[in-house]
Parts: sequence; C-alpha cells; structure tokens
Amino acid sequence: MSTYNTLKGVHDIVPPDVFVWNKIEKTAERLFYVNGYSEIKIPVIESTEIFTRSIGQSTDIVEKEMYTFTDKGERSITLRPEGTASVVRCYVENGLNRRVPPQKFYYMGPMFRYERPQKGRMRQFYQIGAECFASAGPETDAEMLCMIYELFNRLQLTNLTFEINSIGCKACRPTYKSALTRFFSQKKDSLCGDCKTRLTRNPLRILDCKVDSCVQLRTGAPLIVDFLCEHCQAHHEAFIRHLKHMAIPFHENPLIVRGLDYYTRTTFEVTTEYLGAQKAILAGGRYDNLVEEFGGPATPAIGFALGMERLAELIKHIETPDNGPFFYIAALGEDAAALTLSNKLRGRDIPVECGESKISLKSHMKRADKLNAKYAIMLGSEEIQRGKATWKRLSDGTQGETAIEDIGAFTKLYEQVSHD
Ligand code: HAM
Repeated sequence: MSTYNTLKGVHDIVPPDVFVWNKIEKTAERLFYVNGYSEIKIPVIESTEIFTRSIGQSTDIVEKEMYTFTDKGERSITLRPEGTASVVRCYVENGLNRRVPPQKFYYMGPMFRYERPQKGRMRQFYQIGAECFASAGPETDAEMLCMIYELFNRLQLTNLTFEINSIGCKACRPTYKSALTRFFSQKKDSLCGDCKTRLTRNPLRILDCKVDSCVQLRTGAPLIVDFLCEHCQAHHEAFIRHLKHMAIPFHENPLIVRGLDYYTRTTFEVTTEYLGAQKAILAGGRYDNLVEEFGGPATPAIGFALGMERLAELIKHIETPDNGPFFYIAALGEDAAALTLSNKLRGRDIPVECGESKISLKSHMKRADKLNAKYAIMLGSEEIQRGKATWKRLSDGTQGETAIEDIGAFTKLYEQVSHD
C-alpha cells in the first residue's frame, strides 16, 4: 500500500500502456499534418463563464460536472471539461479569424469532469480534438469524417459505428423543441427527475437520457429530421451524398443530439460495442454560432474530440516498442570514463544506459539482459589504461574490442541493426 494514491477517477498512464497512447498521438499528428491542422496549446484553466456560455447552463457538464473554484482574486475559475470552448476563445482573442480560411487546429490534453467514475469514465481524462473554422459547406463535414475514418483505419480499428445526425439551426430547432415538449409533457409523470427539469429547460436532452424508463418513453417521439428547414435539409443531404461517394460507412441516428448546447446541423459519434456502457470513443459536430457568441465575426465551425482512455482500451494489440538501451556500459573501475563514453554515444543519438561501478560484472550483465540491451560494453581499470573497451553482443555472445575513443566504430555497430 502506498501512502498516497491518485484521486478517485484520476489515473497514471505508465509503460507499456503509454506506448499505445504514443502510437495514437503519433498517428493522429501525422493525419492532422496531411489534412492541414496545426497544433494549438490551450490552457487547462479558464474563466468559468467560457464554459457556462458555450456548453449551456442546462447541460449535465455545467450543472453537475465542472471543477470550479474561486481563486485568490475572487474570480470563478474552471478546469476545462472539454476543449472546444477554449479553442473558440483563443480563435477570437488571437484574431485567428483574420488569417486565410479555413483555419484548422488540433489539441491534445487532459479534461476534467466530476462524473461518477467507472470503466471508460474518468474525472481526469484525455482528449485529442480538432476544430475547423470558417468553412460552412457539407463537404467540410464529410472531409472531417473522412479524416476520422482514416485515423481508425491506420490504428487498425474496424467494427466501429459512425452515427450521424443533423440537429438543425436557430431557424428550425425551436419548432422541433416545441414538438418534443408537447410529446414529453403527456408523459411527464413517468420521466426521471432530471428529465422533468429538462422538459422545460432543454427537451432535446431527454433524447440522450440513459435512464431505462426515459429510454422507453421516447418511442414514437418526433424526430428532428422531419423538422429541418430547407437549408439544413440540403446541407444534411449533401453531407450524406459525400460520405457515400467516399465510401465512408455510416448510420443515421436521429437521437444523436449531443450533451453540449453549442451544436448546429451536423452531429456525429463513433461508437463501439466492445467497451460496455461507455460506447462513444469520439464525438463532435458543427457549431456555427459559437464564434459570434464569443464576440468574433459570424464564423461557421466544426470539430470533434476523441477519448484517449476509451480508444487506448480498444487498442490492445500494439506491440510494445523495444525501448531498451542499445549499449549497456558496465563501469567496473571508475565511472568517469563510462560517463564520458555514454555521453559521446548519446550525442550520436544512440540509446545508452550507464551502469555505475558499485556492482560486479555479473550484476552488470544481469541488468543489461533485463533491460534488453543489444550490446554490453565493459570498462574496467585495465581497459581504460589500454584505451580499449571490450564489448559483447548479448544475443549470441560475440565479443570484440574497440578503442574507447573510436566512437565511429561503436556507431557502426548501432547502424548495422535497423531502428524504427
Ligand atoms: P464529448 O462528447 O463531451 O464532446 O467528449 C468527446 C469524447 O471524450 C467522448 O466521446 C468520450 O470518448 C470522451 N469522454 C468524455 N467524457 C469522458 C470521461 N468522463 N471519461 C473518459 N472519456 C470521456 C466534447 O468534448 C466536444 N468538445 C467535442 C467537439 C469538438 N465537438 C466539436 N468539437
């Protein structure tokens, strides 16, 4: 038992799990690069208002899940529960709207939500997110889905379901909300406590309530697709056409309303059957009004975020990279020579572990083996005097001698083996 443990719903990511994370990050970074997305580093803390205004007062995140505190200057501060609001704030604050459109950004990092922890649901979790500004057309939506599809392909993840929907715009959504309110008002008494409140504050949210009785009650509820205005309808149809053209498999799910209020038109989720209750590994959508609401010019935008914990859980098959040292230097006489040689070899970008002289040759060799080193270099007092080092290839016991100063000869040994 250690004296201190991580907080509930918070976890460390240690090797070998972290290699899976690295693989996801590298794969995503490469795809972002070819799709013209640049990295953006946004703060972990923001003014609370940034989230309440954008995510919406009557959402679970704002009502129940934010880590909010008052700082010493009496300001209300919140640990970011998601990235989009901060990216929009950053976009407006830094005048990024004045750059050539479209502007595309990605971010990676921890998010914080005070949720009831369970498998795949953490209080500190990591997201990789991407946001594309100033491109309104349905082809942008399709292009984003295409990038996501390619990401999962490169991670060799099949069996994922792409679910899409449109939740309309300021013009058509109010009519839909009224229809939903009428529908659920008749069943009000059977709704859960939260949904009773949602009925007056945000009836759309009833559609993604997870309580069994509420799930039952939505059978026969009016569907947004029947309420879309002409423009939203045309956008949605073109989006679907593009997806079909690019052979991206998808399901239309009129219940994908999303748990954040800023969405307009296209919404989507990527889900899996292999993670139990926490099915969504990625989610996103269009938010065409948010930049303006944050004081910027009217700017359409679309984005997504994926949950690293859930995705990493799905990717168990990535081989653990061989991260052992190439050379293990066994210092036997004095440490200075071993340290100098290590330094020179590392300067050539060769991974080296330097074992200090306090232990015996036998212990050194055991350590080299356990660390999965390729070569051991022995540096005893006698060798140092002669200016020579004895090396041993651990896979077959082949031995040799090289002048300590001859860094080129050591480098050759390294170059003979292929390195990814
Ligand atoms: P979200 O649906 O709240 O959307 O989160 C996106 C993903 O983050 C989820 O699909 C899930 O994989 C992961 N996630 C969310 N909460 C947790 C949790 N408590 N523990 C583990 N994983 C979690 C957003 O955050 C939007 N900002 C996405 C977006 C970007 N929309 C437009 N741009």
